[in-house]
Amino acid sequence: MAAILSSLLAGSVLLSGSVNAQNFGSNGPVEDAFSYVQPLNTTILTEYGSSPPVYPSPNITGVGGWEAALEKARAWVAQLTTEEKADMVTGQAGPCVGNIVAIPRLNFSGLCLQDGPLAIRVADFASVFAAGVSTGASWDKDLMYERGLAMGREFKAKGAHVALGPVAGPLGRSAYAGRNWEGFSSDPYLSGVAMEKTITGHQDAGVQACAKHWVGNEQEIQRNPVYDPNVTTVKTSNAISSNIDDRTMHELYMWPFANAVKAKAASFMCSYQRINGSYGCQNSASQNGLLKTELGFQGYVMSDWGATHTGVAAIEAGLDMNMPGGLGPYGLNFGVPSFFGGNITIAVNNGSLDTSRVDDMVIRIMTPYFWLNQDQNFPSIDPSSADLNTFSPRRTWTRNFTLTGERSRDVRSNHAELIRRHGAAGSVLLKNKNGTLPLKAPRNIAVFGNDAGEPTQSSVLNQNNYEFGTLFAGGGSGTGQFSYFVTPLQALQSRARQDGGLVHYWLNNTLIANSNVSTLLIPRGQPDVCIVMLKTWAEEADDRPHLSSDWDGDAVVESVASYCANTVVVTHSSGVNTLPWSDHPNVTAILAAHFPGEESGNSLVDLLYGDVNPSGHLPYTIAMNGTDYNAPPTTAINTTGFDDWQSWFDEKLEIDYRYFDAKNITVRYEFGFGLSYTTFNMSNLEVSPLANNITSFPENLPIQPGGNPALWESIYNASVSVSNTGSVAGAAVAQLYVGLPSSAPAGTPPRQLRGFEKLHLEPGETQTAAFELMRRDLSYWDIISQQWVIPEGEFTIYVGFSSRDLVVHDTVTVVG
Ligand SMILES: *[C@@H]1O[C@H](CO)[C@@H](O)[C@H](O)[C@H]1NC(C)=O
Ligand SMILES: *[C@@H]1O[C@H](CO)[C@@H](O)[C@H](O)[C@H]1NC(C)=O
Ligand SMILES: *[C@@H]1O[C@H](CO)[C@@H](O)[C@H](O)[C@H]1NC(C)=O
Ligand SMILES: *[C@@H]1O[C@H](CO)[C@@H](O)[C@H](O)[C@H]1NC(C)=O
Ligand SMILES: *[C@@H]1O[C@H](CO)[C@@H](O)[C@H](O)[C@H]1NC(C)=O
Ligand SMILES: *[C@@H]1O[C@H](CO)[C@@H](O)[C@H](O)[C@H]1NC(C)=O
Ligand SMILES: *[C@@H]1O[C@H](CO)[C@@H](O)[C@H](O)[C@H]1NC(C)=O
Ligand SMILES: *[C@@H]1O[C@H](CO)[C@@H](O)[C@H](O)[C@H]1NC(C)=O
Ligand SMILES: *[C@@H]1O[C@H](CO)[C@@H](O)[C@H](O)[C@H]1NC(C)=O
Ligand SMILES: *[C@@H]1O[C@H](CO)[C@@H](O)[C@H](O)[C@H]1NC(C)=O
Ligand SMILES: *[C@@H]1O[C@H](CO)[C@@H](O)[C@H](O)[C@H]1NC(C)=O
Ligand SMILES: *[C@@H]1O[C@H](CO)[C@@H](O)[C@H](O)[C@H]1NC(C)=O
Repeated sequence: MAAILSSLLAGSVLLSGSVNAQNFGSNGPVEDAFSYVQPLNTTILTEYGSSPPVYPSPNITGVGGWEAALEKARAWVAQLTTEEKADMVTGQAGPCVGNIVAIPRLNFSGLCLQDGPLAIRVADFASVFAAGVSTGASWDKDLMYERGLAMGREFKAKGAHVALGPVAGPLGRSAYAGRNWEGFSSDPYLSGVAMEKTITGHQDAGVQACAKHWVGNEQEIQRNPVYDPNVTTVKTSNAISSNIDDRTMHELYMWPFANAVKAKAASFMCSYQRINGSYGCQNSASQNGLLKTELGFQGYVMSDWGATHTGVAAIEAGLDMNMPGGLGPYGLNFGVPSFFGGNITIAVNNGSLDTSRVDDMVIRIMTPYFWLNQDQNFPSIDPSSADLNTFSPRRTWTRNFTLTGERSRDVRSNHAELIRRHGAAGSVLLKNKNGTLPLKAPRNIAVFGNDAGEPTQSSVLNQNNYEFGTLFAGGGSGTGQFSYFVTPLQALQSRARQDGGLVHYWLNNTLIANSNVSTLLIPRGQPDVCIVMLKTWAEEADDRPHLSSDWDGDAVVESVASYCANTVVVTHSSGVNTLPWSDHPNVTAILAAHFPGEESGNSLVDLLYGDVNPSGHLPYTIAMNGTDYNAPPTTAINTTGFDDWQSWFDEKLEIDYRYFDAKNITVRYEFGFGLSYTTFNMSNLEVSPLANNITSFPENLPIQPGGNPALWESIYNASVSVSNTGSVAGAAVAQLYVGLPSSAPAGTPPRQLRGFEKLHLEPGETQTAAFELMRRDLSYWDIISQQWVIPEGEFTIYVGFSSRDLVVHDTVTVVG
């Protein structure tokens, strides 16, 4: 969701902190709610940078298992007045971050929508889970589901019908984008599996998932239009336009969202920025065309908070629910005035909007509600949420909300235990010289860096990049409120005490970077280990200014390593960090611990001391140098033209490892890389077709959620044997990459991830990793036929332990 949260969390005014002021216009765009913004243009779907009209908006059919719920929803909606229908699709200020009002005469108690992707944010006595990037780094399907289920249970117990997550947009086109950490990986396949598992987990708990932000939301700067500060109704420039060609749209940015639809996500959130020139929430090509027609999405599309810029035009283009309801872009005007609300009643009554479209909007909203049995004994909204909700505090409410039920419910259950495991599983061991780790009961431990200790200002974190205190998560609407947390320093101290050790620490980066560290240490003896804790902040509404660690972290490492021969560096980070000191001989170990959530310190100590064997792998690439990355966010447009903010995705499919591999660029740590305390071996790759009549084109089957079901049929099996050749138990991740034949169109990446399996292996144990390759996995998107096509010629199937440690491979000819 939106926007302002990083400042609103603290109940402070807008425009605070480091947030890019450019993103914040005042309220009140003027656009004609009753006319199409897009001129009719017959340009074909494939034209780069254009967004053709795709109308009308398809009706829900209930296909794929929602048929019975659809019948209930239809019968229910038939009882509504036009005013009630308008209410059902228009948010109001209320106790939750998004609210649909109750209709008491039908025993409907309304809908409560809450942030976000790693916690129910507006809540007390709730858990803060590992972030998306940590979850992606685990490469563990069971963990992804377990986390989704546990989160879903907390949302439900707090009375939230809809969890505003998970995130596949941004995907991670640019290493700098401020919200990459909310999602899982810059690889669409890994992200897609994580989407599917998370959504299934949320919805198995009885909570609706919301896949966001659809689509191409790959940077924060200028994600919204800008308004004249003096005349707030005058828009001075449009939001950035993500200009994405058709093939790239399908193979990268849509891909994980297809998994989300396949998993029957109840809702999607359309994005702030424009897509090929047209605003995300009024883009008929993306909503009516790609999402509701091609992918067969049966749920509802809600706007990001304030991303609705028209009424009827957006509705005809496929938008089903306006959030938070009032005029954007940063609508603290909630219900009135609205592009929806009363305007829908007017439009229906004067004939500019067909009742059948409004009915479809409401039916799409109510079908997943009935499918998940949310009409039966759903918990009430915890009254404490209303007080914690700085987004729409009580004084802004214009409608009635009756809050009943137990206040400040503790919904945390035993989740601390699994968060501790997840934090460790999402940490990646990048270097471990001479078996430095695991630590062997060191007696004298020196800890350095402002990421080690307690946040000194407040436990209500994540309003900004605070200097002192460890990072558990990033900022903005995707963060959480901590009921407690365990810092690295607390956990290290308590572990050292058990071992009869001691811990000295220095937390001021400026001091460490500018000191001769030996003068700090000598009186205390040469430490057995120096642990340097670095952090890298990222937040919604702001892209990262650089890829280094914050607070002069690189200088802190150099300073410590120049004296300490056993320097272990740990990063808490939103994702990519350049690590220029990685080859320093005294830097003996590096652990990328990402954003592990509330049990951070325990997750870390479990790894450092070997109670848990590291098994995370990078869900992105660490280049030799920040300048090696292509596809930076489009920034610093300093012309004043209305439409000057354009982001041309000219690198096409070549993001992250697809780019580095295509250009044969040496990287520091490649996509998929990660060390263990044990060693693994791999052998016996077997690849076999599941049919002998595989055709290039998929059979044209009726669309199901996820698109043509033929795309999801397994057509090849592959397997490898993986052995633990070391002396401790550990988990290996077997990664399968596909190289398409040379007959595939130009621009096809050399290799793309198309399977992964995590195996837990005792010393000496061997297990088989089995992969099922679906038709989609072996196809490219053909812009001419508008189909997924399996190319003719020789495919190479590689399996290994990273994108550049490809241990075994085989070639197969799939068609012809
Ligand atoms: C349709 O859009 C394309 C690309 O923006 C443009 O070149 C063309 O002139 C438009 N056609 C019409 C009929 O407006
Ligand atoms: C949706 O269903 C309604 C009522 O059955 C029908 O009138 C309308 O034409 C349908 N719309 C589409 C796009 O099929
Ligand atoms: C807004 O008004 C102030 C004071 O009159 C002026 O200095 C400023 O340039 C105006 N801003 C714009 C964007 O017109
Ligand atoms: C309808 O939308 C317009 C903006 O186009 C707004 O000014 C007006 O207040 C809205 N009406 C209602 C009833 O919300
Ligand atoms: C709220 O409910 C009360 C009593 O049920 C009613 O009198 C009042 O008009 C309602 N207010 C609004 C804004 O609906
Ligand atoms: C690492 O191991 C090598 C070979 O055993 C040894 O020469 C070297 O001193 C060790 N380095 C450290 C830092 O322990
Ligand atoms: C951190 O160290 C620097 C350099 O010694 C000093 O100027 C600064 O005041 C210190 N910060 C705090 C919060 O003590
Ligand atoms: C590594 O640490 C030792 C002190 O233990 C120091 O003498 C040496 O200069 C350091 N190496 C580098 C490259 O800084
Ligand atoms: C990174 O690249 C820039 C520009 O090419 C160069 O100036 C800088 O020295 C490089 N840094 C490293 C660590 O290689
Ligand atoms: C912005 O303006 C400066 C100086 O006029 C120019 O050098 C720079 O290239 C411009 N940046 C962009 C993105 O146009
Ligand atoms: C890639 O680069 C390496 C080292 O720079 C070189 O040995 C190799 O031949 C290159 N491969 C290709 C395909 O260019
Ligand atoms: C391919 O063969 C399988 C049996 O091996 C059969 O079920 C299927 O219908 C065939 N598909 C086509 C497209 O001929």
